[in-house]
Amino acid sequence: MAEIGTDIQKAASLLRRGKLVAIPTETVYGLAGNAFNEEAVLSIFETKNRPQFDPLIVHSSGIQWVKQHVNEIPVLAGILMDEFWPGPMTLVLPKKEIVPDLVTSGLDSVAVRVPSHPMTQELLLMLDFPLAAPSANPFGYVSPTTAQHVNDQLGDKIDYILDGGSTTVGLESTIIGFEEGKPIVYRLGGLSIDVIEESIGPVEIALNQSSDPKAPGMLKSHYAPGKPLYFGNPGELISDFDGKRIGFLGFMTRLEFLPNDRQLILSPHGDLHEAAVNLFAFMREFEKFPVDIILAEQLPEIGLGRAINDRLRRAAVNS
Ligand code: TXA
Ligand code: MG
Repeated sequence: MAEIGTDIQKAASLLRRGKLVAIPTETVYGLAGNAFNEEAVLSIFETKNRPQFDPLIVHSSGIQWVKQHVNEIPVLAGILMDEFWPGPMTLVLPKKEIVPDLVTSGLDSVAVRVPSHPMTQELLLMLDFPLAAPSANPFGYVSPTTAQHVNDQLGDKIDYILDGGSTTVGLESTIIGFEEGKPIVYRLGGLSIDVIEESIGPVEIALNQSSDPKAPGMLKSHYAPGKPLYFGNPGELISDFDGKRIGFLGFMTRLEFLPNDRQLILSPHGDLHEAAVNLFAFMREFEKFPVDIILAEQLPEIGLGRAINDRLRRAAVNS
């Protein structure tokens, strides 16, 4: 198993030597390596078992750094950076030559992000290179929101996990690209669409699901927990599961006819932020529960509810 600790110096020195370190961000934990070191980047793909056609996000400490990696900043991108960085937002922008093709899977754009987690900010400030970091989970699986989640799945493949506690957003960053200067959301995430639209006006949403998407990580089969998950209206779905032991992942209220110990409620008070924080940890918990299938209730399609529903839909076998 990996060592779990809070030694930022140690994380920095491993990264300088081309090693991988799992790092906390406000969204989910990342599996980080020097973005300019091809061997480190290759080992990110290997460790996650991730296909090399799925490009990585490049993390830096601030906008000044990001400017060294991108060729052009559309006006609206500049507004978003000023308003929402550091934070749970990734921008896809035309890349500069110095960003290795391996990081961007040969695309001429690069995904860039300035994370707000204080430990990772401190780490990035110590380094003279940016960090390529996908979520620290095996490809296709639910993203980790604690150091222990990372250790459970990748602990035997990495040396060090920088422990920054449970993540405070709980969903991956929202990914926004620009086509002819117009913003297009490729992945719903921790920064909700209404907040973005308040800042820059209406945005198009193009969530890719094909085999050649703009954001390949948004393939349908993503976020799968270890048991079949069904997504929708529990009242309508329940009759399909005669004889199966059902686990229920609900928004605010339990199902009366199921045992309590097979249910997890994302936010009894109906707080979508709390629901987002709990989502991935709860999906993992069902693996230990004595249930055959997970029934996940659809949340209201507002604010972070949209991103939560997106993740559940992609995790589901019935949608
Ligand atoms: O919150 C997050 O974004 C976390 C933390 C660790 O920062 N990272 C994360 O990375 O979720 P990952 O690799 O699991 O997802 C990154 C997504 C993938 O869907 C990838 O296809 C997309 O970003 N992506 C990366 N570069 C891209 C590009 N140039 N154009 C379009 N999509 C890109
Ligand atoms: Mg991921």
